[in-house]
Amino acid sequence: MKDLNNRVAVVTGAGSGIGRALAVALAEKGCRLALSDVNETGLAETAAGCSGAEVRTYTLDVSDRDAIYAHAEQVARDFGQVNLVINNAGVALSASVREMTDDDFKWIMDIDFWGVAHGTRAFLPHLIASGDGHVVNISSVFGLIGVPKQSAYNAAKFAVRGFTESLRQEMKLEKQSVAVSCVHPGGIRTNIANAARMGKSENAEAQRKGFDKIAMTTPEKAANIIVRGILKDESRILVGPDAWGIDALNRVLGSAYQPLVERFSRKNLYV
Ligand SMILES: NC(=O)c1ccc[n+]([C@@H]2O[C@H](COP(=O)([O-])OP(=O)(O)OC[C@H]3O[C@@H](n4cnc5c(N)ncnc54)[C@H](O)[C@@H]3O)[C@@H](O)[C@H]2O)c1
Repeated sequence: MKDLNNRVAVVTGAGSGIGRALAVALAEKGCRLALSDVNETGLAETAAGCSGAEVRTYTLDVSDRDAIYAHAEQVARDFGQVNLVINNAGVALSASVREMTDDDFKWIMDIDFWGVAHGTRAFLPHLIASGDGHVVNISSVFGLIGVPKQSAYNAAKFAVRGFTESLRQEMKLEKQSVAVSCVHPGGIRTNIANAARMGKSENAEAQRKGFDKIAMTTPEKAANIIVRGILKDESRILVGPDAWGIDALNRVLGSAYQPLVERFSRKNLYV
C-alpha cells in the first residue's frame, strides 16, 4: 500500500493513546476510518480530532470473539471495502507468575492475544477481497524479550509476534495481496500504566511513576513511525529508540540478555 488516500482503515482501541494518534495520522493521510473501543467517551473525543475525514465509531470489546466477527461484517457493509486493519487495543498487567490470578491472566490473553488473532481472522477475507490489504498487529518490546512480572503480557505479545510473522509468510506464499506488519513499541506515553492491573504486592503508584519516567516516545511520534512502516511494508516496525536498543540487544546477546534485565529489575522492580 503506497498511498493511504481513500483507503478504509480499521483501528481498535482508538479511544486513547497510540490508537487515537493513529486515527488522527490516518485521517491526515486521507483514510476513511472505522474506529472502535470499549470506551465510548474516549472514542468520541478521537473522532472529533479526525476533522475532515469520514469517521464511523463502533463500541467493540475485542475480547468478545463473536462481536469482532460481527464488527468485520458491519464495517465491510458500512464502507464497501476494508484495506487496513490495526489490531491495537490492549491492556497491561504487572504481577509475578506466582502471584497473578487466573482471572487476570485470562483477561490479558483475551484482549492482547485473542483480540488480535480474532481481529486478524475476521477481517482477512475482506482484506484479500480489497486487492490491496494490510494487517498491522501491535505487539511490544515485551514481544521481543521476557521481563519479570510481565509473564502474562510477555506471553500475549510473543504470541502476537509469532502469529503475525507466520501470517506474513503465508500471505506471500499464497500470493495474496495482503501485507502484514508486527509493531514493537518501546515505552510510549499513554494511559496504559494507569489502566493496568497489578498483583496484590505490587507498588502500583511507584510502577506508574517509573513508567512515566522511562516512556520516551509520544503517541503522535509512535503513530507517525507506524504509518511510515505501513507505507514501506516493513515486517517489523520498531517504535522508539528503546525499541531499537532492545531489538539490537536481543540479536547480539541472544538469551544472554536476561542477566542485564535482571540487574535492571533488581534496582527498579524488586525494591
Ligand atoms: N504505551 C506503551 O508503552 C506500549 C508499549 C508497547 C506496546 N503497547 C501496546 O500498544 C497498544 C495500545 O496501548 P496504549 O499504550 O495506547 O494504551 P492506552 O491505554 O492509552 O489505550 C488502549 C486502548 O485500548 C482500549 N481497550 C482496552 N481494553 C479493550 C477491549 N477489551 N476492547 C476494546 N478496546 C479496549 C482502551 O479503552 C484504550 O482506549 C496496546 O496493545 C499496548 O499493549 C503500548
